[in-house]
Amino acid sequence: MDELKTNVLYFGDNLEILRNRDYFPDECVDLIYLDPPFNSKKDYNILFKENGGVESEAQIKAFTDTWHWTQTAEDTYHDIVVNGPLKVGKLIGALHDAIGHNDVMAYLVMMTARLIELHRVLKPTGSLYLHCDPTASHYLKLVLDQIFGPANFRNEIVWHYRRWTAVSNRFQRLHDTLFFYTKRDKYMFNMLYDVPANIAKGRKESWKVDEEGREYRWQSLHGKRYIIYRDIGAKKGDVWELPFIHPSAKERLGYETQKPLSLLELIIKASSNEGDIVLDPFCGCGTALVAAQKLNRRWIGIDITHLAVALMRNRLKDSFDIDAGVIGEPVDLASAKALAHEDRYQFQWWALSLIKARPLGEKKKGADKGIDGVIHFIDDASGGVKRVVVQVKSGHVGVNAVRELKAVAANDAIGVLITLELPTNPMKVEAVDAGYYHSPIYDKDYPKIQILTIEELLHGKTVDMPPQTQTSVTFTKAPKVTRKEGEQMAMG
Ligand SMILES: C[S@@+](CC[C@H](N)C(=O)[O-])C[C@H]1O[C@@H](n2cnc3c(N)ncnc32)[C@H](O)[C@@H]1O
Repeated sequence: MDELKTNVLYFGDNLEILRNRDYFPDECVDLIYLDPPFNSKKDYNILFKENGGVESEAQIKAFTDTWHWTQTAEDTYHDIVVNGPLKVGKLIGALHDAIGHNDVMAYLVMMTARLIELHRVLKPTGSLYLHCDPTASHYLKLVLDQIFGPANFRNEIVWHYRRWTAVSNRFQRLHDTLFFYTKRDKYMFNMLYDVPANIAKGRKESWKVDEEGREYRWQSLHGKRYIIYRDIGAKKGDVWELPFIHPSAKERLGYETQKPLSLLELIIKASSNEGDIVLDPFCGCGTALVAAQKLNRRWIGIDITHLAVALMRNRLKDSFDIDAGVIGEPVDLASAKALAHEDRYQFQWWALSLIKARPLGEKKKGADKGIDGVIHFIDDASGGVKRVVVQVKSGHVGVNAVRELKAVAANDAIGVLITLELPTNPMKVEAVDAGYYHSPIYDKDYPKIQILTIEELLHGKTVDMPPQTQTSVTFTKAPKVTRKEGEQMAMG
């Protein structure tokens, strides 16, 4: 068996990946943070903002958080009841009797199978934080209690944020819930402290000195009395006030469910040390991985969509100049063909990610109907945005594909056709026939229609286009992040 690979991304279903013991032997990670889809009966669409902040019509069903009672749910249910830990099987069997074959049960079954594996891969001193909301938290806590043992429940953390919602018949929902469990009773934990703004203002005589010589006093906060140390503040409570990422914040990358870096930093500081391994099996655009890297931890991320993997890869590159390896993505023509055969959309997203093009999704309108992805760039003195429009063909291609692209790209700067198959001579002639796009800023000609094969892209070929400037990048660029040097943590 190979050594555990860290600082790596996996593309695929986390259950399959976690069950592969070559990837994840027993007790190999220190901290797990998971932010699974919440079963909120809503398709999470990735809403990319068009320039100027208007939500694009083009949306991508990056993942759906609604599960139905399918054959997979039935098979997973059987597997848990027959092969899972006895107590867990009993609970799931009882819930199944009570709830029946419905979406909630399908969600619970899918989460239970994954939590069993996550418990297996956690080190004896390790911790798990499950991020959820009130839609499913009550069910999930039952499952966690059975898998981890109620005695290993440490906290229910309430992440309280402010946002405006248009409800008038109930109270506003302004929090998420994070369940913090440890594998055993002896575990790694760094106490975190909050420093009240007025801490230094205490009059000298109001501080007492404890047996270790530290100055402290009792202080009333939110109606409770806390011990506050003059140098480090008060021990952190289980209600965390942290703002949502503002829609216009630099941190926001356009991923609907992106969580704030500050939230992940708290979790990672509290439950890991430098060099430890942090796993996020539902990692979306990679917030946990960025926080881990910033705090000098090692990390492993898993996601089931190429879109998330592409975003994460770009984010790690932009934030730290890291070229993260992705396990499970096609690496050669044969595996690219296999992906195309398995799932045309995943293939498309992956192919687009090779040239950093933004996928347009399923709800394309009007002239964009024939386009799979776009790359934006700025190429005139007034700052006007130009587009490279991209089509991806996973099947047989002929000269008609080029003609079609020519028509689709008529009002855009450049058209790119990505093909699995080699282009025929008539296709090449048709492409050359389209002439050039002239860049006014660079005073240079670029072929108007370009055909790129997957094989060429895998060997590093890219679109021949004017350079993308900071303001014209297709994916929102993540800000550069500075790694913390040997940060001092207070031990609890
Ligand atoms: C709520 S989002 C996570 C957001 C993340 N915390 C962030 O800050 O960007 C859940 C993610 O889980 C992924 N996902 C859903 N089912 C999955 C599965 N079975 N295996 C791996 N990833 C999955 C989705 O693609 C989505 O990106």
